[in-house]
Amino acid sequence: MVDPTHFTIDTMTGRLVLPEVIAADGTVETTPLITADHCDTVVLAIQPPAGDDSVRPTPGATAASLRYGVDLADAAERCHAKGKAGECNVVSLPRVHGRRNASVPWDGLARRIILLGIGEGTESDIRTAGAALWRHIDSDERTVIDLGPRTAPEIFASFAGGLFLGAYRPKRVTKTAAETSSSPQIVMLSGRHRLDSLTDALGAAQTVATGTWLARDLANTPSNIKTPQWFAAQCEAIAAAEGLDITVHDESWLADRGFGATLAVAGGSANPPRFVVISHEPVTAGDGARHVVIVGKGITYDSGGLCLKPRTAMVPMKTDMAGAATAVATALVARRLNLPDRITVVVPVAENAISGSAYRPGDVLTTFSGATVEVTNTDAEGRLILAEALSWAVAELEPDLVIDIATLTGASRMALGDRHGVLYSNDDETAADLEQAASRAHEYLWRMPLVDSYRAGLESSLADIRQTAASQWGAGSIMAALFLEHFAPKTSWAHLDIAGAARAEKPRADTAAGATGYGVGLLAQYLLLSAGREQ
Ligand code: BES
Ligand code: MN
Ligand code: ZN
Repeated sequence: MVDPTHFTIDTMTGRLVLPEVIAADGTVETTPLITADHCDTVVLAIQPPAGDDSVRPTPGATAASLRYGVDLADAAERCHAKGKAGECNVVSLPRVHGRRNASVPWDGLARRIILLGIGEGTESDIRTAGAALWRHIDSDERTVIDLGPRTAPEIFASFAGGLFLGAYRPKRVTKTAAETSSSPQIVMLSGRHRLDSLTDALGAAQTVATGTWLARDLANTPSNIKTPQWFAAQCEAIAAAEGLDITVHDESWLADRGFGATLAVAGGSANPPRFVVISHEPVTAGDGARHVVIVGKGITYDSGGLCLKPRTAMVPMKTDMAGAATAVATALVARRLNLPDRITVVVPVAENAISGSAYRPGDVLTTFSGATVEVTNTDAEGRLILAEALSWAVAELEPDLVIDIATLTGASRMALGDRHGVLYSNDDETAADLEQAASRAHEYLWRMPLVDSYRAGLESSLADIRQTAASQWGAGSIMAALFLEHFAPKTSWAHLDIAGAARAEKPRADTAAGATGYGVGLLAQYLLLSAGREQ
């Protein structure tokens, strides 16, 4: 049996670290870094044809052709390269053999060249290229990259961001500890840009990617290990390592304060619930510093409870705490980037299990705010724990803004698929800022409406509010959002339903199959964008 107390996530033990990417001055034209002494593989960018039928080498690739004395555009054509973002073609130049004193023009230079397609060179194309490149570099290789046309800091950051995200592999639970794998050395050439601004951009990209890796590690951990206590213990370890304040409340604290819904959801499980509060206090809090609260859904396993899920729907439900993982990882990023706003992360953590003590459809629960809820479906557990976390945050923390993030409804996945989170907000400015941050972070959002007339669907004849609308009502994601809104009164509030975006069924260029860590990049970008803004 795996002993949960001895299982820690890789991002905390430091056993699996992000690949090291550094920026160095120069271009392929003259740099000594692409000689065989320093380098095994040179990566050059190519683009789709402008008009005729040959690919477009970028200025870097053209300069490399001159230095190597070979026509790389011709080599690209022979590989049938198209230059589209993420396409990789490897050109291996041979060594001289036989005749003494014979030489080739590429003598002394790295002999492995990767022609990497960067499409139109947009930030999104560059990110895709970075993610795709990872599969073509070996762990013990020294790689030098020249991105050619635009090596601006944003381009550097997008490329490295893609590379880091593409490099993640989920941890396996195995009999023997995995070997420490060596990590390739990756150098990006600065071209004509200033090295310090590129180094800063790389550092920020690495911090955000570390957060995403952490969120993935937490969400990919199996639920027999990931009990609410285990999750809270990981939060404590993270907070201690990062210098964040943390309080972990237990089931008796919840009982004393009347968290009737959270205790009901947790009631069917042998593993008691936890309520974790992590805070980032900026080193120098300016007068304009806001207090932003991020609430994350922390269901460590969602069986559906008495309204049991079918087997196939249940298998992926270890990732039903992805919202909590993202919230916690965002606290880490906020700390490391020393963001100027006060940020408090609130995560209710519980397992939705089934037993004689499980809550039932038909129960009426009294929540923390005093409002009563008529339970109609024990599989709609997320909104219950979030409702109490929201009303607790509003009552206790005096937030300027509350953002909740949750794998809340299958309906949101049906509506937008697995690349877009669904956004709801009672505040247009916050919604617009979140949308802008989402597109910059390439973690997309689409805003949906809080339809006023649909509120009638939550009217209850037995309690203050129904947990879900009648089954023929429809609009499952909107109804969940309307339920939550009820518990964040008179507060700027945004709700992110990430049931689709939090998981990838199949591997993609920028993520392995499983948890995606969606939301860390987006929330970090949002907090950077709106930093220090007075309300
Ligand atoms: N955790 C699920 C939502 C979910 C579904 C996440 C698919 C990821 C992938 C949530 O707790 C749930 O079961 N929601 C129900 C709500 C319904 C009972 C009103 C759903 O979506 O079916
Ligand atoms: Mn559920
Ligand atoms: Zn759930």
